[in-house]
Amino acid sequence: MATKKLFIKTYGCQMNVYDSARMADVLAPLGYGPTDDPAEADMVLLNTCHIREKAAEKVFSELGRLRRIRAAREARGEGRTVLGVAGCVAQAEGAEILARAPFVDLVLGPQAYHRLPEMVARLARAGEAQLDTDFPADPKFDHLPAPGVRGPAAFLSVQEGCDKFCTFCVVPYTRGAEYSRPVTDILAEARALVAAGTVEITLLGQTVNAYHGEGPDGSPWGLGRLIRALAEIDGLDRIRYTTSHPRDVDDDLIAAHAEVPALMPFLHLPVQAGSDRILKAMNRGHDAAAYRRIVERLRAARPDLALSSDFIVGFPGETEADFADTLALVDEIGFIQAYSFKYSVRPGTPAAGLPGQVAEDVKAERLARLQALLNAQQVAFNRACVGLEMDVLLDRTGKKPGQLVGRSPFMQPVHVSAPAEMLGTVRRVVIDAGQPNSLAGRLVACPGGAPQGPQRVPA
Ligand code: 5AD
Ligand code: SF4
Repeated sequence: MATKKLFIKTYGCQMNVYDSARMADVLAPLGYGPTDDPAEADMVLLNTCHIREKAAEKVFSELGRLRRIRAAREARGEGRTVLGVAGCVAQAEGAEILARAPFVDLVLGPQAYHRLPEMVARLARAGEAQLDTDFPADPKFDHLPAPGVRGPAAFLSVQEGCDKFCTFCVVPYTRGAEYSRPVTDILAEARALVAAGTVEITLLGQTVNAYHGEGPDGSPWGLGRLIRALAEIDGLDRIRYTTSHPRDVDDDLIAAHAEVPALMPFLHLPVQAGSDRILKAMNRGHDAAAYRRIVERLRAARPDLALSSDFIVGFPGETEADFADTLALVDEIGFIQAYSFKYSVRPGTPAAGLPGQVAEDVKAERLARLQALLNAQQVAFNRACVGLEMDVLLDRTGKKPGQLVGRSPFMQPVHVSAPAEMLGTVRRVVIDAGQPNSLAGRLVACPGGAPQGPQRVPA
């Protein structure tokens, strides 16, 4: 029974969403259960993101707000809320947080959350702020309890950290060196999730396809092999992975896309830019032609594969001609969804000191042009889905009564009229409408047979 209330606010990537769930798992034995109201929480954790300047700045304004909420609760005589900052801002700026916001009780990096119970105990004993931003020699995964119930679609961290050192990126510094969890641990966590009702698992890692965890035979397994082993788990209908790096797309992973029906035909494969000069300056380790070839091979393996990507505009030295190369690549490849950002200077990264920093208004103007093109591609894809039949994992209730919302194989939200008992199941749906950000469809009366890929409905 939960006797205390825990509120966690998560910023940034899916790895943080997973980490937040794991922090809740670690705190459950101490009596903490979830609340979605910080005003009644005994502990509030901000799980922060350091990837761009804006993301990092949000933390300090949120801390100011939480301090006032905490004071009001204390004045009501409801006890003192423990206030913690976790995640990548904590890792990168731990000491600065305690200096700028000395009212914070806990500061812990992404590699330290298995030590939360100790930190809470020390805080209670000593009454002073606790800071833990060490990279422990023993990986945190060895100390985590079994996952709690996660719902129909769950994340599973298989790889963490990054050794690629793209010149714009803080991740190698905040998340540390690349680490792959052993296969046996991952399979056990996946089985526990499926036993608790999960039917779709997204494998997570900063460069997830660099996965090379130790297999049961003692040899390193790649991501393709891991996916094949996961696909054997009864009741696991869907597998995804994110975020991948073009350099680590190997033959076996491409083959897995052809051979494993549970591996969904949607891939987030960040390219960042279309200019070879800029890709080199970014230290991405591949050129635009290599990216095009990888996409070609993936599409040959899985013809219905749809792609999403990340882009940075206004990297130092980016000219109008470089940017035109990005637009040309987008135009040629076609993405059904994307994230695009203005380059944000991150202190301590190599690109921060490069000459040719691009003016903010130029970045804004390029971003607008890129986003117009990417949006048009997304809208066109959603419209082209009208008339298709596809498997939809109904994983949420909708806003309207009698409505459920699900995910298509391509991660589009799909609104469907369906009874509540269907929540958490994969159903065959015909798509009737394609909006810019979602689809609407209706259940196919008698689908029968095994789940299939998207199909044109016979006229
Ligand atoms: N500026 C802008 N975008 C960045 N990203 C990472 N670092 C920066 C930065 N300094 C983007 C990349 C990456 C995504 C997670 O965030 O596109 O793929
Ligand atoms: Fe950052 Fe590059 Fe590593 Fe991705 S591959 S986490 S962008 S350094």
